[in-house]
Amino acid sequence: MQSTAAAVQERPAVQPDGRVAPKGQPGDPCVMVIFGGTGDLTKRKLIPALYNLDTSNVLAEEFAVVGIGRTKLTSEAFRERMTRDIHEFATQSVDEARWESFVKRLYYLPGDLHDPDTYRRLQELLADIDRKHGTRGNYFYYMAIAPNYFATTVRLLDAAGLAREENGHWRRVIIEKPFGHDLDSARALNRELGEVLNESQIYRIDHYLGKETVQNILVFRFANGIFEPIWNRHYVDHVQITVAETGGVEQRGDYYEGAGALRDMVPNHMFQLLSLTAMEAPNSFAARAVRDEQTKALQAVQQLTPEEILTRTVRGQYGPGTCSGEWVPGYRSEPKVDPQSRTETFVALKLSIDNWRWADVPFYLRTGKRLPQRVTEIAIQFKQAPFVLFRETPIEHLPDNWLVLRIQPDEGISLRFGAKVPGTAMQLGAVDMDFAYVDYFGSTPSTGYERLLHDCMIGDATLFQRADMVEAGWCVVEPMLDIWQAVPPRNFPNYAAGTWGPKEAHELLERDGRRWRTIGHDGPERNGPRR
Ligand code: BG6
Repeated sequence: MQSTAAAVQERPAVQPDGRVAPKGQPGDPCVMVIFGGTGDLTKRKLIPALYNLDTSNVLAEEFAVVGIGRTKLTSEAFRERMTRDIHEFATQSVDEARWESFVKRLYYLPGDLHDPDTYRRLQELLADIDRKHGTRGNYFYYMAIAPNYFATTVRLLDAAGLAREENGHWRRVIIEKPFGHDLDSARALNRELGEVLNESQIYRIDHYLGKETVQNILVFRFANGIFEPIWNRHYVDHVQITVAETGGVEQRGDYYEGAGALRDMVPNHMFQLLSLTAMEAPNSFAARAVRDEQTKALQAVQQLTPEEILTRTVRGQYGPGTCSGEWVPGYRSEPKVDPQSRTETFVALKLSIDNWRWADVPFYLRTGKRLPQRVTEIAIQFKQAPFVLFRETPIEHLPDNWLVLRIQPDEGISLRFGAKVPGTAMQLGAVDMDFAYVDYFGSTPSTGYERLLHDCMIGDATLFQRADMVEAGWCVVEPMLDIWQAVPPRNFPNYAAGTWGPKEAHELLERDGRRWRTIGHDGPERNGPRR
């Protein structure tokens, strides 16, 4: 089959305010201000992403970056640092002439985020950059800093006259998760931001939405006539969403101790995958239409009672074991982790979406660190065909029909069905129709931040979380946090690194006569060999 990708052109996205945001064209003239300019995210992701946008000619010529941090540096020294770092973190080979001209647009301002004087100096620097680079007073602020700084930073920006949208320029703020650590703190953060900014100025980033395969869920569902008619309780038996990582907590023990797998992954990344899978068709691809439907899906996720939490949620913590062929320590021996820690590194949940489309279709979610494979996928199992025709044959059961959206790393989509094994006897094998992104579209090295930064520059908030989505997610998770805190785990660590989580995670599905899909080659297939 030949790729027809080139034939599909993107049409401009119409903004809720009626503005047409041209995709694939340079973003608006603007300045990106990065709070946390000397941090990891800046050098590993943000600058390489901006460089990729520049080489794809979708960065306005009138564009500049200001890094802000406590480290005392001149703009010149910052440029030297970024030049060193880009050679380490770029996702493509660096074109020196292009980088030379790009790096001239980087500035640095040392300052304390609690000090109003920092913002006064920022205001002067921005005015200067506007004159030099023609950036027209359009600024977006990237909060690559700890969340406890968000509210103060935004208030002080406002006090310096840097947050108000007036005289035709725009001001936007990008914040990274965590958006609160529970429902109350998420609401408080939304309120504090809302005191200074309009919701339309707030861009809550979830880097999962920067992944092409995640964006493709909507296209797959709504650009094809064949799947949507069967995307409901009449045909779907259940859905499994897996986000498995082989890595441990590495150097992030201090953050992770206060977060745990549930907070770290579920209300954000996993609920994005769940809402895109479960939502109704939006009226358009405008930000409001898409996010309204995602929010509705999240609001329909049933909140579990305390009894249900005890039977429908599973938590785990890894002990030592062999992961990716290497012996690794248990979570409690990781740096900056309490040797008696009760923090979970694995979660499995059985959720229901209480609406017309999904009534009685369980959504099983699992995520964890130190699992046997790094894989993110959404697997939809369809109901089985009646067995009646096979009663008189040696076949004992029919293969499961799975549609699997492979988000990462081996990006693609596959459909599993039963086929007759050639020969005189009636035998069935499970086979896959398989699409791999790389075969059709090649691979475009990216940091995953390009699209999101560009969307912010053109004012398209479709791929960012809205306050009500965040709160809807926490409403589901909060009762679990409460019960888990009231009933501390007694059997941690309860899974060895390099295994698929505690036995209770398997029992969660076995009780329903199901099992987790076998991923990769680490177990026998129930219905016969893979192709
Ligand atoms: C982050 C979490 O948001 O997502 C990490 O804080 C996790 O704990 C990471 O490892 C996973 O992202 P990805 O893109 O590697 O799946």
